[in-house]
Amino acid sequence: MGWTDSLLTGIKEIDEQHQVLFDVVARLEQAVSREDKWSAVHFALVELNAFVKIHFAVEEALLRLHDYPELDAHIASHRAFSAALADISRHSIREDVSEAMTALVKSWLVQHIGKEDQAYVPHLRNSRLAGAAE
Ligand SMILES: [Fe+2]
Ligand SMILES: [Fe+2]
Repeated sequence: MGWTDSLLTGIKEIDEQHQVLFDVVARLEQAVSREDKWSAVHFALVELNAFVKIHFAVEEALLRLHDYPELDAHIASHRAFSAALADISRHSIREDVSEAMTALVKSWLVQHIGKEDQAYVPHLRNSRLAGAAE
């Protein structure tokens, strides 16, 4: 599973960030198959945590700016993923979480970016067009 153009939203900064998320996951998968995976997985988690935080802040600000009606549900979905990631990070100190982490991150990326993020695209497109016409 990797990046495909069907995941594009048409919003440049969001698309670039989504592609970075997929890059982080690809690195994560490489890390999992390495001998010294403990530290590699741990650092990939730290990187993912930091990047996801930035991405969610940018996306939520954009949705708020354009009065997206499903904003609360979208934020809740972001928070649920952050909580799951934080939980895995805590466990990563003592146990091998590589399998659980790649499974969580991959399924979330496909589900969230492919469906929930796609759901705001028509609203944002209309809102931006309306803004441009004013
Ligand atoms: Fe997103
Ligand atoms: Fe999102």
